[in-house]
Amino acid sequence: MDLLKIKDIYASPDINKNVNIGGWVRAFRANKFIELNDGSTIKNMQCVISDSSIDEEIIKKITVGSSLKIKGNLIKSIGKGQSFEIQILSIEILGESDPDQYPIQPKKHSFEFLREQAHLRIRTSTFSSVMRIRSKLAFGIHDFFNTNGFNYIHTPIITSSDAEGAGEMFKVTTLNEDQINSKETDYSKDFFGKKTSLTVSGQLEAETYALGLGNVYTFGPTFRAENSNTSRHASEFWMIEPEMAFYNLDDNMDLAESFLKYLLQYILDTCSDDLTFLDERLKKEESQKPKIERSELNLIEKIKFTINNKFVRITYSEAFEILRNSNYNKKKKFKYLIDEWGCDFQSEHERFLVEKHFKSPVIIYDYPSSIKAFYMRLNSDEKTVRAMDVLFPGIGEIIGGSQREERLDVLNKRIHEMGIDEKELWWYLDLRKYGTVPHSGFGLGFERIVMFCTGMQNIRDVIPYPRTPKNASF
Ligand code: 4AD
Ligand code: MG
Repeated sequence: MDLLKIKDIYASPDINKNVNIGGWVRAFRANKFIELNDGSTIKNMQCVISDSSIDEEIIKKITVGSSLKIKGNLIKSIGKGQSFEIQILSIEILGESDPDQYPIQPKKHSFEFLREQAHLRIRTSTFSSVMRIRSKLAFGIHDFFNTNGFNYIHTPIITSSDAEGAGEMFKVTTLNEDQINSKETDYSKDFFGKKTSLTVSGQLEAETYALGLGNVYTFGPTFRAENSNTSRHASEFWMIEPEMAFYNLDDNMDLAESFLKYLLQYILDTCSDDLTFLDERLKKEESQKPKIERSELNLIEKIKFTINNKFVRITYSEAFEILRNSNYNKKKKFKYLIDEWGCDFQSEHERFLVEKHFKSPVIIYDYPSSIKAFYMRLNSDEKTVRAMDVLFPGIGEIIGGSQREERLDVLNKRIHEMGIDEKELWWYLDLRKYGTVPHSGFGLGFERIVMFCTGMQNIRDVIPYPRTPKNASF
């Protein structure tokens, strides 16, 4: 491979040397200046056609969206906006692109429009920045766990257990339509001989490995058939789920906080060009909003603020009192009013606590057992469980986790109360029979941390090909 990456040229420019690059044309001005981007960085390379040695026929084919290989001399630039440029010696057109048809024009496109061009939107500055940050975040995650002695495990994607007990699973079957449509579907005839689905979480399997390996984590796709068309829910999303033997809820919260802060610092350290670009983009967007709607901190300030401040930790009951006594509640500004202990918080309540009341990330813990999953450890009040949710500004819940119920009798009681089929969970219950230990874990929604780091407001814009209700294009 004789092509240099534009990123590497910027990192150590070898002035007056010959270079070869390949990329896509972002702009072409005055039949002379080509802005080429190869995806390695937000920065384009200005390539200049300096004499008549380039064939007219070739110049005609240089259009926005076309792909080129350029050979040239890297020289100091006297023009504004770049300190060096490539003086072109030869151009090879790899792929032409009809400028009248190419959907990605050098102008501002709406994100809605670009979602319909999801196969081409990666050639815009915004999406390439978002996806480079997404990639770095994934490495940051592995880096954190690897450095801290966690084992990376791969939990199954096809499963017969509903980990969250919420019944929001996509069926996996090879039965034909007739076999499924009949009243009593006989899943013993199905491929796996039983009812199976795509996983909603790798947690239960991760628990089994934590109780043998100590500290483990999963990082994989999860699937939820919940019909919620919001800007923060996807039907297919990626989740990071660490699970730690001997951890109680405080240890769990400490790990979640230091993990998030590590990731944010990792992105500040490794993605400064992309962050700066997205920061500027958001500033422009904010400046068009009325003053009272503008956010107080810009993107990079928000990331730094989160790293430098301790997350507020309050119990559900404390959060409930704050919300109930808030002016928002009294003046009925909430869509769902807070009046009875035990209600689930909606995203409007979470955002009130984080954005208006504390102006800081908040961890709420000790939730009512009635609104949480069966596996969470029951407190001595027998009303609340050792659950925790980490809430972030602009996002709401970014992490959900808990200390797990390690006592067989208590867990059995909970499973019966919730009407869960214990036969399906025999292996999960075995963990409590043979060498049980206190243990804890949590799940971080990968797309939600990407949203926080990039300032993107819709989950559909931080995953290459979003799957949401009524949408599985591409
Ligand atoms: O709170 P959740 O449902 O927790 C679990 O699944 C646990 N088994 C995790 C654990 O303890 N190991 O989901 C965890 C996180 C949420 O906080 C949210 O960030 C993200 O996953 N999440 C979603 N992200 C995008 N689209 C959806 N539909 C999501 N549902 C949850
Ligand atoms: Mg949750």
